[in-house]
Amino acid sequence: MDITQMDYAAPSVSFGQAFEYPQKPSNRPQLRNVTVRDLDDLIRQIHAAFDSDSVDVDLISAILAAYDTNPAHWRKFAKFDRYKYTRNLVDEGNGRFNLMLLCWGPSQASTIHDHTDAHCFMKVLSGELEEMRYEWPEGSCSGEGMRAVGRTPLPTNGVCYINDSLGLHRVCNPSDSDPAVSLHLYCPPFSACQVFDERTGTPSKCPVTFYSKYGKRVKYCQK
Ligand code: SIN
Repeated sequence: MDITQMDYAAPSVSFGQAFEYPQKPSNRPQLRNVTVRDLDDLIRQIHAAFDSDSVDVDLISAILAAYDTNPAHWRKFAKFDRYKYTRNLVDEGNGRFNLMLLCWGPSQASTIHDHTDAHCFMKVLSGELEEMRYEWPEGSCSGEGMRAVGRTPLPTNGVCYINDSLGLHRVCNPSDSDPAVSLHLYCPPFSACQVFDERTGTPSKCPVTFYSKYGKRVKYCQK
């Protein structure tokens, strides 16, 4: 889309005259009537939505929700491992966010984790996932275990959002026979987070790595 050319110089006005500065034109998609054609269009619209200092959680969620998943769009990024879920980088968002495909084999799950003060958006592209939410443990090592506060089934095309002020979570593929794929957006990107022992609430630092980048398997899991 072309950016409209406008003159941003302050208009010349005389005292007492009501005036408005011209609004800076924005490529940002508008919250109402978001439509998304395919994965490339989704990525383009997400870049446009990040064309400002603030993160518009409702807008990003609406863009993700408007995308009707189609494996033909994202198959090249979907790489599974039989032992653990995989993180596959799709786009580095000009350093502002990371967009990645997560591939979940049957019954695979993440550990309870925080989000290092980042926004976390997630959309199910294939199969079904389940999100379990937890309260932060009392103290740094309460020994009392984690308190679960919600369990949300996420169907294909379902979207969810979390940040540290909303608590902690873990995600699992509840199916013991079918795989699942999800799209995750983290802003800002992070390369380590805290994981928590479900029985004791004890936190530990955990690096997060990529299994593939831009459709190509990385030799060793890389940040
Ligand atoms: C999740 O459970 O939200 C996925 C965590 C990750 O990014 O590895």
